[in-house]
Amino acid sequence: MPESPIGVFDSGVGGLTVLKALRELLPGENLIYFGDTARVPYGTKSPSTIIRYSLENARLLESFGVKMVVVACNTSSAHALDILRKEFDFPVVGVVRPGAKLAVALSKSGRIGVIGTEATVSSGAYRKAILSINPFATVFEKACPLFVPLIEEGWIEDEVTEIVAGRYLKELLSVGIDTLVLGCTHYPLIKGILRKVCGEGVRLVDSADAVAREVEGLLPSRSGRTEGKVRILVSDRTERFERIARMIMGDGITIEEVSLEKD
Ligand code: DGL
Repeated sequence: MPESPIGVFDSGVGGLTVLKALRELLPGENLIYFGDTARVPYGTKSPSTIIRYSLENARLLESFGVKMVVVACNTSSAHALDILRKEFDFPVVGVVRPGAKLAVALSKSGRIGVIGTEATVSSGAYRKAILSINPFATVFEKACPLFVPLIEEGWIEDEVTEIVAGRYLKELLSVGIDTLVLGCTHYPLIKGILRKVCGEGVRLVDSADAVAREVEGLLPSRSGRTEGKVRILVSDRTERFERIARMIMGDGITIEEVSLEKD
């Protein structure tokens, strides 16, 4: 019988940055990704809608017999993680805590910036997670709602995105942060621009690798495995998703459209 896959979901293409880190660290694992492209973005939705979508996504992955779910979406992790953990028997791993832990470990001054969607920032999830690890940290948060549409548009190395980033980050840079958490799984795709805007003095925290290590810690030893399979599912198959997905995962992927509707 084939080994149960690890399920991963995001509102769209951003969670593929986490899928890639999982693939690199755990090449023997079967992975199944769901990008809810029909309903992206989540970051501008209300908490109850984000929770409902997250439950539906996890149920979809459950129907594929997953042994674990990675919530590769900060917005879902911020609002729905506890509910998902109560609802399902398998382990559910979020992205907020691993990112917060890494930020605290990297920051020397304890002045930590967090950027994310409106819903992630207004949840205060990063602030709470960072302060629970280092109560002396000072957390500065900024919602950057234009980043997701710019990234989904493929404007990853574009001057418009750089101007927008400069405007959003101005305040955080003026208060002297030394670490910036990319609190949205889409943002690592514009790391080049963010690095340029922030300069060398600010460490950028992308939690993808930290999440992959947390998943590894939950698995039994995996020596001598053959290469696992990767399936990528979406609720709306678009040329835009395919283009960015190939940029992240390489050309050898296939993308399948699935329906979230109940029969
Ligand atoms: N990738 C999602 C996250 O990490 C955000 C994208 C969206 O707004 O749907 O929050």
